[in-house]
Amino acid sequence: MMKRVEWLLLSAVVAAVTLGCLACLTGDDVRAVAAPPLSLEGYLDEKLPEAPKDQPKMKVDNQACYVCHDNYKEEKLVVRHGVEEVGCIDCHGKSFDHRDDEDNLTPPEVMYPRDEINECCSDCHDEHDASPAKVIAQWKKRGLTETAPEKLVCTDCHFQHRLKRRTVTWDKKTGKLLKVEQKLAPKENDLMK
Ligand code: HEC
Ligand code: HEC
Ligand code: HEC
Ligand code: HEC
Repeated sequence: MMKRVEWLLLSAVVAAVTLGCLACLTGDDVRAVAAPPLSLEGYLDEKLPEAPKDQPKMKVDNQACYVCHDNYKEEKLVVRHGVEEVGCIDCHGKSFDHRDDEDNLTPPEVMYPRDEINECCSDCHDEHDASPAKVIAQWKKRGLTETAPEKLVCTDCHFQHRLKRRTVTWDKKTGKLLKVEQKLAPKENDLMK
């Protein structure tokens, strides 16, 4: 008769193989399909194959900002640039005074009034390799009404980086505090969709 431990190991192997096959059927990352090692001894300290991660690997540490800006963790601008080693502080400054102010009255070091947004992006992007059809489709999808190209900014079409509602408002040019609202539950203060 097999001992309890062996039964456990056998079921683990069967489970791992089944998972591997499922991953294979759904066409997931090939690494997840690799069969577990056959030697049970070695298997004891072998980790189960890890499920493929949806999130690409971030190459920046934005933790200091996520403490309060948790809603930006999966936002596309943040992720797409995080994998390229461009983090919050590269665009908004280290902002120590801002992040240390528990009253939230001190603005971050770098903010972008509408007429300075394109400049920020153009620092790194000087070409636009997209078909006119796609650009128009995107314009429609975002529900934009502005038709004069010189009045459109990159973030009108790209990412969901704007807040739907503000709790604190500064003048983005001067940093002057303009308005403080009652704290909102984080969910209500979500990003533009
Ligand atoms: C102690 C909490 C806290 C930390 C930590 C924090 N922030 Fe903020 N930040 C806020 C609050 C509150 C607002 C106002 C948001 C709102 O209106 O809902 C804000 C707003 C901002 C804005 C918008 C400014 C504007 O009006 O255009 C930027 C940019 C920003 N933070 C960047 C950062 C960056 C970068 C970090 C990390 C280096 C950071 N914050 C860390 C609390 C924080
Ligand atoms: C500090 C440099 C830097 C800044 C500033 C910057 N980007 Fe990027 N961005 C990159 C790099 C690097 C990549 C990845 C390589 C590429 O696709 O060009 C990237 C990728 C992108 C992509 C995805 C391209 C693709 O094919 O997947 C978009 C869209 C984009 N950026 C838009 C913007 C917008 C809009 C802004 C301004 C809000 C901006 N970027 C600001 C460096 C930057
Ligand atoms: C009217 C909408 C619109 C505006 C405004 C816009 N884009 Fe785009 N952009 C698009 C579309 C659509 C694509 C193609 C996306 C795709 O292929 O799925 C694209 C693609 C890109 C790409 C990836 C392709 C490439 O060239 O590497 C980058 C980077 C980019 N845009 C940056 C910017 C920057 C920077 C600005 C502001 C100066 C900007 N975009 C303004 C709609 C727009
Ligand atoms: C590639 C540059 C870039 C990076 C990286 C970046 N931002 Fe921004 N951020 C911008 C620009 C440009 C704007 C202005 C966007 C607009 O108004 O459409 C902005 C606006 C904001 C705002 C104000 C939104 C509003 O509605 O007023 C907040 C808050 C913010 N960023 C926080 C962050 C945090 C937190 C991170 C990192 C987790 C981050 N940003 C990373 C460029 C960047």
